Amino acid sequence: MPYLSELLVSPAPAMAPPLPAPRGPLSAFVLEWLVRPPQALPPAPAPVDDPLYGEDSALALYLCYELHYRGFAGVDDGWEWEPSLVALVRELEAAFAARVRDEAGRDEGNDQGNVGVAERLYAMTHGDGDGRSLSRYVAERGTLAHLREFAIHRSCYQLKEADPHTWAIPRLAGAAKAAMVEIQADEYGGGGEHAMHQSLFAVTLRELGLDPSYGAYLDQTPGFTLATVNLVTFFGLHRRWRGALVGHLAVFEMTSVEPMGRYAAALRRFGIGPAGRHFYEVHVVADAHHETVAAEGLAAGLAAQEPALVGDILFGARAIMAVEATFTRRLLTAWAQGRSSLRASVDSVVIDEPAVASTPS
Ligand SMILES: [Fe+2]
Ligand SMILES: [Fe+2]
Repeated sequence: MPYLSELLVSPAPAMAPPLPAPRGPLSAFVLEWLVRPPQALPPAPAPVDDPLYGEDSALALYLCYELHYRGFAGVDDGWEWEPSLVALVRELEAAFAARVRDEAGRDEGNDQGNVGVAERLYAMTHGDGDGRSLSRYVAERGTLAHLREFAIHRSCYQLKEADPHTWAIPRLAGAAKAAMVEIQADEYGGGGEHAMHQSLFAVTLRELGLDPSYGAYLDQTPGFTLATVNLVTFFGLHRRWRGALVGHLAVFEMTSVEPMGRYAAALRRFGIGPAGRHFYEVHVVADAHHETVAAEGLAAGLAAQEPALVGDILFGARAIMAVEATFTRRLLTAWAQGRSSLRASVDSVVIDEPAVASTPS
């Protein structure tokens, strides 16, 4: 019987993934040029779909953003700061940001001053919501195929979990910076490779019989899921949006404990062993603490230092909640209709039967 620590050896090396297939004229344009040496781009085709959730637009922005993370196999690193590509990204971001503002809606409260930022975040994240809970569905009625689909959707974020928020660190100071570093240190496993949350998620994918390689499921990942990752990358890459990035992380940490517990329970129901559940179970414990650090040390800490950022902190919080609500709605609608929520059925992406450790209970 292997020890849990042996099972937790991450199966996912930090390799640059292959480029995906295009989904329309804009993503085709980006893909066509990225395989060449960096050079000045001709004018890009006009967007043909929604700048936030559209398949073509979301993928085009995602492709450009990945150049700031692990890049792609066969793509020259020089594209990251090629001025003409940066100019295209700025155009895409302008349309993206306008749609995020639509989705996030207006702030109903008083954005002035720092009083009550933590309390307002608690109120936003611990309210009644609209009653549609993805984790509750998966825990109570989800099938193994649903669990795998959910893991595939999340893989484009969880395999780089914490990385976009790390961009906030050099932009913060004092108490807010210390709070961010405390959270991030845990996300990176305190410096232990096999305890990094992104490594733990790779183990979960493997235990579900899925491919744990970074970017393995990009072709199957729909635009509304890419939008959740583009949102945090957008906030992360811009110093101007450091307040929104902090609000985004605060909501992330403050909405984690109960859902993570439900996903762990669902995995247990299908006989997935401790290694596969570890990612979720770690979050139940860690985020019970991170929730407080994020709301009080980080968000309220930043608001105290820079009161002018209160509106941005709350905007970032509303933005992630809105984009995640769309994600939840799209998955639950697809499943209610008996179809896959991915761009291809889960049957065509499972590489192995899951490593079932015990009889489902
Ligand atoms: Fe985490
Ligand atoms: Fe956390």
